[in-house]
Amino acid sequence: MKETLSPKEGIKSLPHFPTVLIGTGKEDESNLITAAMIHVFSIDPVMVGTGISPKRHSFGLLKKYEEFTVNVPDTSMLEQLKGCGSKSGRDTDKFERFELTKGPSKKISVPGVKECPLVLECKLEKEIETGDHHWFVGEVVNATRDEEFQRDGSILYWGGEFRKPGDLLD
Ligand SMILES: Cc1cc2nc3c(=O)[nH]c(=O)nc-3n(C[C@H](O)[C@H](O)[C@H](O)COP(=O)(O)O)c2cc1C
Repeated sequence: MKETLSPKEGIKSLPHFPTVLIGTGKEDESNLITAAMIHVFSIDPVMVGTGISPKRHSFGLLKKYEEFTVNVPDTSMLEQLKGCGSKSGRDTDKFERFELTKGPSKKISVPGVKECPLVLECKLEKEIETGDHHWFVGEVVNATRDEEFQRDGSILYWGGEFRKPGDLLD
């Protein structure tokens, strides 16, 4: 038997997505936002995009500085990921509040998160207005990874659930 779902229920049933901290702004304006809307948009050139709502403080910072970092936390950073996804940079310095360290980027001015084992530095190429989120697509101009980094130690989120990646199938 197949159930008919509303479009919203349909997308809520998608598998969990990698969930990251997007770094925006610089110096005193540096901010972090938790984002599950993140994907690869091109392999050559290398481009990633993140879907950000115009309601977020990060939205204005992305437009202003046209650079961002994609910071991939590990499971030990779950509370920090949740915190950066519930407080706004309008009234909270999330680096200070969640004890995260600004890691200087090599090719852009927006910092990454030192505690994250994988950091991508991106220059904004395109903003795509879809519906209640706009996709900010950037070229990855530099990437840094801790030697111990393991992809299955990352955090996935969707439909209200946080998970870690499961068994390798093939
Ligand atoms: C697990 C999780 C995933 C989220 N994913 C997104 C996302 O992809 N895009 C978005 O605009 N907001 C997303 N949010 C909400 C923002 O992280 C949240 O509104 C945040 O407080 C905005 O911060 P800012 O105002 O400093 O930009 C997510 C929140 C959580 C907890």
